[in-house]
Amino acid sequence: MTAQELLTASQAKLRDCGISNPIRDARLLLADCLMVKTQNLNLLDDSYISEIEISKFWRMINDRCKKKPVSKILGYRSFWGRDFEINDNVLDPRGDTETLIELILDCNFENMLELGTGSGAIAVTVLAERPEVTCVATDISEYALKTASTNSKKHGVESRLKLLNSNWFDKISGRFDIIVSNPPYISSKEYAQLGAEVVKYDPKISLTLGGDGLEAYREILSQALGKLSKNGHIFLEIGWNQANAVRHLLREAGFQEIRVHKDLGSRDRVISAESP
Ligand SMILES: C[S@@+](CC[C@H](N)C(=O)[O-])C[C@H]1O[C@@H](n2cnc3c(N)ncnc32)[C@H](O)[C@@H]1O
Repeated sequence: MTAQELLTASQAKLRDCGISNPIRDARLLLADCLMVKTQNLNLLDDSYISEIEISKFWRMINDRCKKKPVSKILGYRSFWGRDFEINDNVLDPRGDTETLIELILDCNFENMLELGTGSGAIAVTVLAERPEVTCVATDISEYALKTASTNSKKHGVESRLKLLNSNWFDKISGRFDIIVSNPPYISSKEYAQLGAEVVKYDPKISLTLGGDGLEAYREILSQALGKLSKNGHIFLEIGWNQANAVRHLLREAGFQEIRVHKDLGSRDRVISAESP
């Protein structure tokens, strides 16, 4: 079979399975399988593909038909221009989370605490962009921390990153210039309505703690002020409809300079505040 024949057949299969962008997905998967760039696939139009590559490619297409996200099939996701290893143990980092990175990189700081690091996309990106910064990053999932560790080595920042298996602040001592978290913030009602791509392939603990979706903010904000330096900053990713509730929690906890920031789609995405 040639690359072009494989693409035509796989795109038809993906379309039959109800995949919304069959042309893009088939090209991404074939390019990965053949270890070429997608833009170079056309150069291979008439080349014959080996049986091993063909079997591997159809396994990928079958996974995609089961709604497995392309990034989870490939095993990596690009975030702020770097590739991060991802797997079943971590949330697939979302493009909207880059809003947090933009805001953090606007600050002057020496150390940072990330709560719920998952793949390490936030902590590793900040460390890679800021060679003078050190970071402690926690997660309740030991498996997620292994992935974060792999990503920290891949991007050469492991000597400045301390990874801790901790329930929010339980194992944290000292104070930090910045605290950042993209916690599980989906309510049990919203979780019940999520599509298979998310529910089946992102760990439940990375998406929801059940209830109204605000539990993680309540827990984090009950202790955050005591872990921040004077005039320290906190950055929390929020759901599009959570700004008022989280603003209220920040005020109650004693924070000041509370601001809501929008993502590229103009939805509320991050709330920031400062310690007095
Ligand atoms: C929405 S994911 C964010 C992952 C990553 N920071 C990102 O933005 O892609 C939330 C993370 O919080 C972690 N988590 C959930 N409950 C936690 C807890 N009680 N203490 C620490 N981490 C927790 C989950 O394991 C998950 O990795």
